[in-house]
Amino acid sequence: MKKKSAFVKEFFKEKKQVGAIAPSSKYLMKKMLKPIDFNTAKVIIELGPGNGVFTKGLLDKMASDAKLFSFELNENFYDLIKADISDNRLVLLNDSAEKIGEILKEHNIEVVDYVVSSLPLAVIDGPVKNVILDEAVACLKPDGKYIQFQYTLNAKKLLESKFKNVSYTFVPANIPPAFVYKCHQ
Ligand SMILES: C[S@@+](CC[C@H](N)C(=O)[O-])C[C@H]1O[C@@H](n2cnc3c(N)ncnc32)[C@H](O)[C@@H]1O
Repeated sequence: MKKKSAFVKEFFKEKKQVGAIAPSSKYLMKKMLKPIDFNTAKVIIELGPGNGVFTKGLLDKMASDAKLFSFELNENFYDLIKADISDNRLVLLNDSAEKIGEILKEHNIEVVDYVVSSLPLAVIDGPVKNVILDEAVACLKPDGKYIQFQYTLNAKKLLESKFKNVSYTFVPANIPPAFVYKCHQ
């Protein structure tokens, strides 16, 4: 199945999970990756890769010895990425982002440099998104960054309750237009 039609199909089937009608644009991808220093990043976590638009962008820029852990809850998106991307730096997981700590422990990794999240915080249940954000905070290095896009500014308060510094930029060239948050302690 084509990647865009897969996206629309999953959107209508799993509205509370996917939270987007179309894959992100390359402009949004560039803004999401801008805060990342790929010269120093050793471990990056991606939450909600969908059809893999950011996954590919990250792998294109990552060092040869860096690792990317991508958590995708939706089995169809997971299968799509698995068939599409073959890269030994990628650890693709068909699991919820709530399991970040557990998975990192299995890989003997204590801290990560960046968390890049596409999770639809607007539609994820409160307790679940709280666990996910706490897991992200717990695994980040003291100078690590959490990068998140959303279509509204509704998540600002929640993010400010988890991170000392929260800033955002607007990306009009996306369907729908989006905000990219950069968060750190
Ligand atoms: C808005 S889509 C973003 C897809 C892609 N990154 C993009 O920007 O085009 C959100 C993705 O998050 C996934 N997702 C939702 N809840 C999740 C969870 N708890 N853990 C991991 N992935 C989740 C959905 O299945 C979907 O693929």
